Amino acid sequence: MDTTQPRPATLTAHYRETMRQFPTAVTVLTTAGPDGPHGMTASSLTSVSLDPPTLLISLQRGSRTRDLLELDAHFTINLLAETQADIAMRFARKPGHGAFAGAAWQISETTGAAVLETATAHIDCRVSERVEAADHTLVLAEVMAAATHAGRAGPLVHYNHDFRGVTC
Ligand SMILES: Cc1cc2nc3c(=O)[nH]c(=O)nc-3n(C[C@H](O)[C@H](O)[C@H](O)COP(=O)(O)O)c2cc1C
Repeated sequence: MDTTQPRPATLTAHYRETMRQFPTAVTVLTTAGPDGPHGMTASSLTSVSLDPPTLLISLQRGSRTRDLLELDAHFTINLLAETQADIAMRFARKPGHGAFAGAAWQISETTGAAVLETATAHIDCRVSERVEAADHTLVLAEVMAAATHAGRAGPLVHYNHDFRGVTC
């Protein structure tokens, strides 16, 4: 174990490298933007509370989605399947237009946002609170509806700069 204290200039690099060892599930967050459906890849999803059902997602400053998710805004989290790394890559690019092509989407009656039919599950949300934290905004949201999808595959996981499935 290397216990050397890094200088502040290198701390960010050490932290980034360390967090690569922390696997996260991959989602596409969708919302109805002024120019049509909008979406971005996000893996910072955290379940905060069951009663009432509440979740949190952390959005970087400069993200268009962060600007769209004002208080009371509605959005949907699509939990990606292990076969959907290409969709994750598409929604990680800016500006994200055209990213909806080539996959089957429905519009959620609850949020008006796009639901990926072949995702493993989706969660409809309403923004209840925004907290500024360093260079990110923590978006806390009330869960309005949640559903797993029939015939779902295993989850898509981001680990060590790569996409993987889960093997048990
Ligand atoms: C696997 C993966 C996970 C990501 N997770 C997040 C995240 O949780 N929060 C975030 O702000 N950006 C995240 N990003 C980066 C955004 O997807 C990317 O910056 C996107 O272009 C933002 O789109 P927007 O400007 O339309 O919001 C992630 C990217 C990848 C590839």
